[in-house]
Amino acid sequence: MSSRYHQLFAAWQNDPDRFWAEAAQAIDWSKPWDSVFDPDMGVYGQWFAGARCNTCYNCVDRHVEGGRADQAALIYDSPITGAKRTLSYRDLQSEVQALAAVLADQGIVKGDRVIIYMPMVPEAVVSMLACARIGAVHSVVFGGFAANELATRIDDATPKMIISASCGIEPGRIVAYKPLLDAAIETARHKVGSCLVLQREQQGCELVAGRDADYADAVAAARGRDVPCVAVKATDPLYILYTSGTTGEPKGVVRDNGGHMVALKWSMQAIYGIEPGEVFWAASDVGWVVGHSYIVYAPLLHGCTTIVFEGKPVGTPDAGTFWRVISEHNVAALFTAPTAFRAIKKDDPDGSFIGRYDLSRFRTLFLAGERADPDTIHWAEDKLKVPVIDHWWQTETGWTIAGNPVGLGQLPVKYGSPTVAMPGYDVQILDDAGHPVEAGKLGNIVVKLPLPPSCLPTLWGNDQRFRDAYLDEFPGYYKTSDAGYKDEDGYLFIMARTDDIINVAGHRLSTGAMEEVLAGHPDVAECAVVGIADAMKGQSPCGFIVMTSGRDRDPAEVAKECIAKVRAEIGPVAAFKQVVTVQRLPKTRSGKILRGTMRQIADGEDYKMPATIDDPAILDEIAAALGKE
Ligand code: COA
Ligand code: AMP
Repeated sequence: MSSRYHQLFAAWQNDPDRFWAEAAQAIDWSKPWDSVFDPDMGVYGQWFAGARCNTCYNCVDRHVEGGRADQAALIYDSPITGAKRTLSYRDLQSEVQALAAVLADQGIVKGDRVIIYMPMVPEAVVSMLACARIGAVHSVVFGGFAANELATRIDDATPKMIISASCGIEPGRIVAYKPLLDAAIETARHKVGSCLVLQREQQGCELVAGRDADYADAVAAARGRDVPCVAVKATDPLYILYTSGTTGEPKGVVRDNGGHMVALKWSMQAIYGIEPGEVFWAASDVGWVVGHSYIVYAPLLHGCTTIVFEGKPVGTPDAGTFWRVISEHNVAALFTAPTAFRAIKKDDPDGSFIGRYDLSRFRTLFLAGERADPDTIHWAEDKLKVPVIDHWWQTETGWTIAGNPVGLGQLPVKYGSPTVAMPGYDVQILDDAGHPVEAGKLGNIVVKLPLPPSCLPTLWGNDQRFRDAYLDEFPGYYKTSDAGYKDEDGYLFIMARTDDIINVAGHRLSTGAMEEVLAGHPDVAECAVVGIADAMKGQSPCGFIVMTSGRDRDPAEVAKECIAKVRAEIGPVAAFKQVVTVQRLPKTRSGKILRGTMRQIADGEDYKMPATIDDPAILDEIAAALGKE
């Protein structure tokens, strides 16, 4: 096979530095690099060492200067509120400069952290870019997380400032952000000096005197001020994005400036087949990595128009909302999670809404964030009549590890596979002892170091945790914590996580973190949380609890309290709604809880009796409690 993809992959293998140096020509640098990759910097080396650049300049100012000033940079479309707004690149520059002036007036300088806790409004994007403009490091926290999760991130990132909003809007309810913000600031050990709060018309909030300022007032007062882009090192952090780890402590994934821009800019044409000036829509949330990379940075780096969509695939107002947005704004490519399509398919199985809109400009659908089940892909292909591209990546990488690069010529699709490794990634499958396994055999999916540009250089302030979590188990490789296999043609199949991460509606969650919350309930003696199959969300968490003896509590009441506790401490996004009370948990003789077997029972799968099980009869009890006898 010698497609353009295969040629480029070979070119990268032969000379990675040259490959990335060429890709880097598409970025404006204030100082060129001393070395494309410096193996002696950081934990495993760093990209574009010695270079200086500014990500906001490349996303905004460069396009204003280069003839795109009047082109739409961002279209805000909010079916949940009815609001719509378009910002040209010139408007975006003016908004970003004004906010950057406000941040600078508050004493925020290069390297300072700013947390952004906002719903899907244009101001969230403006906030990210304003930080990038002055070299501050942003950390966006998803709105569906509770105060406690926000507090954990405040303590880890130690921000000088938080930018937030009075509320977010979910179907049927207004989510008041301000009480969550106040509670988080109150609980956190690190003290935050100032907050900027966007007052939304749906529900305002009280501002704390001496700490909070009104976003709109502050920005209005600063409008028209010139705030230059600060040149930072290519290796300086652009942002920290927290993602679920195996404990309640989330991991602060660090993204640098230079490598991130190079990889993302390259991906827009090669992987997504998008030209500058086209409209690209990632229907995700800025709180997730897909939002960072493909709502904000990549489309803007590429001079595209991006869509900020505040709504859901169904119910806002109906299962035709995606098609309405695509047709109204001339979207060329949509990127979302398979769960969104499962939701649409459930509400509109025949796809009857699709025919009501003109989708003639729509070329490709991209899916990621969870395994794309072949049924969903077939349904989307059949109804939309465009290529449906699955691709696999992680918060840690920020862009595709394996995909089908339509811009280089689409490769044949194998359903159930996100296709092949992208240039930059030497993906291998190893057994638990670290030996390569043959084609078609399941194993640990790893990437040979160094990781390509944009991938995390470390975890925020914690090189050791980075090594422990990702590098130590398979020396010389990055452990993805996904298990799967590669076929004879190099196609990858991503089958399951090897840790306790589950994927609920495309959201990455830690069952370990949920167990920590349950264990804090006085009536819970022991617990285990497993991800069980869910037709719409892919997986959903199910808690098994053993109640503390001698306390005479009603199991149904305790279950209700457990559900409320996870919602209050992790957030509604955990979607924790199922608790089963059991007498004992199944364990090995060495005391390890057999979570995998519990999941198999819950999913109604055949399972092999674990050889090391302490007491096999417990499995029958579990099956009975789940009604799966
Ligand atoms: N702020 C506050 N609460 C939020 C929130 C936010 N930003 N986002 C979600 N929640 C809440 C929801 O309202 C829901 O609350 P509920 O228990 O009171 O109903 C809960 O968190 C679970 O949300 P979710 O898992 O998203 O379920 P849902 O039923 O609201 O929606 C989908 C299901 C499939 C429609 C939705 O998850 C979706 O559109 N997902 C696809 C795309 C996506 O965002 N992927 C992420 C990475 S690409
Ligand atoms: P996140 O960091 O939230 O992007 O989640 C990353 C994890 O989601 C991966 O490690 C996989 O387990 C899963 N994932 C993402 N995309 C895919 C895909 N296309 N196919 C299978 N699993 C995926």
